[in-house]
Amino acid sequence: MLEKLHPDVVDAYEKALKARENSYSPYSHFKVGAAVKFKGFEQVFYGCNVENASYGATICAERNAIWSGVAAIGKQDMEYLIVVADQEEPVPPCALCLQVISEFYDAEMPIYLGNLKGIQKVYLLKEILPVPFNNFVA
Ligand code: THU
Repeated sequence: MLEKLHPDVVDAYEKALKARENSYSPYSHFKVGAAVKFKGFEQVFYGCNVENASYGATICAERNAIWSGVAAIGKQDMEYLIVVADQEEPVPPCALCLQVISEFYDAEMPIYLGNLKGIQKVYLLKEILPVPFNNFVA
């Protein structure tokens, strides 16, 4: 567990952990939970991975959490994101999720990676995705 975490971050971690329990993952058997906090909003949104027999229709926990937030309060700037899986070396968001996260871009945003024992690592978004595709001229 990382030291000196803000209680709100620990609370969001607990929500991600709980959401993970609802993971529908009969194909990979890999349960993931995520929680997202948006700037200026107290409420924390959470999600789990939901798989599908057509594997490509699977949704990751991170995107599930982010889209649930968008449905409730619209597109907002993200303050931090938490990902939880049952793995010693905690998993980062996949590249598809990073692309979605970059739409809510704040290079300094922390991404906390946890397992069942707690939050183990923290990266800034700019460390995981240094060159995002989020600005183009049509
Ligand atoms: N998965 C997530 O939910 N988040 C990640 O960051 C990595 C992968 C899910 C997708 C799939 O249901 C399972 O984990 C195995 O890839």
